[in-house]
Amino acid sequence: MKNKNLKNYKIIITAGGTQEPIDPVRYIGNRSSGKMGIAILKAALKKNCRVSFIYANITEQLPRGTYKKMYTPSAQDMYETLKKEFTPDSILIMAAAVADFRVKKIQKNKIKKENHSSLNLELIPNKDILKSLSRIKTNQKLIGFAAESQSLLENAQKKLKAKKLDMIIANDISNPDIGFGSDFNQVYFITKSGYFQSERISKNKLGEMILNSIQKLL
Ligand code: PMT
Repeated sequence: MKNKNLKNYKIIITAGGTQEPIDPVRYIGNRSSGKMGIAILKAALKKNCRVSFIYANITEQLPRGTYKKMYTPSAQDMYETLKKEFTPDSILIMAAAVADFRVKKIQKNKIKKENHSSLNLELIPNKDILKSLSRIKTNQKLIGFAAESQSLLENAQKKLKAKKLDMIIANDISNPDIGFGSDFNQVYFITKSGYFQSERISKNKLGEMILNSIQKLL
């Protein structure tokens, strides 16, 4: 059937860590390298899929190939870009580490330490991108990641429900051998009908496994 083939979809992959500015020099960021998202990108290119790659801050080089790439440094940039890109033929795979909060008032000039004996930053919530897109979803598929440091399976299952996802891929980011920055990962694939755990494998292998699992959802 036409819609059972990944090639008939636009595969949108997000990668890297968003940065939320404080002043012209500083930001709030996280440890995502972009490796996981790039591994999925490589697997999708191998399968000759049509890909839109939306990336925040990454430490890795992007592969050559024919795909649409868009740089979105902050969570708000990523949200605005995704809103436009999320057409009904999309499968969105959110491997990016998106900040839940941003600074309420970004300072125009560099904050001077001489002017402060202590400093409080007021943070306000960013939009939950997956949740917002799940509200406008028609035929699209939504695949999220869960980055957890405790109760991995339980917390990921909660996110699957709360964000109304078709699948969530859960990784334990408290283990330095997998997750952030590593070339390896070990994850749970979770849908509403069940879950299974992968071995600890290279992110490149896992990228292929992720696409094969999504294929089964179609
Ligand atoms: O980039 P690497 O160094 O290779 O590391 C890979 C990774 C650990 C970053 C990746 O495997 C991963 O877990 N990505 C998701 C990180 C994350 O933000 O997880 P979360 O549990 O906080 O969020 C759950 C899901 O909601 C994620 O798909 C996230 O992209 C999404 N989200 C989060 C916040 C927000 N405001 N909007 C969102 O859509």
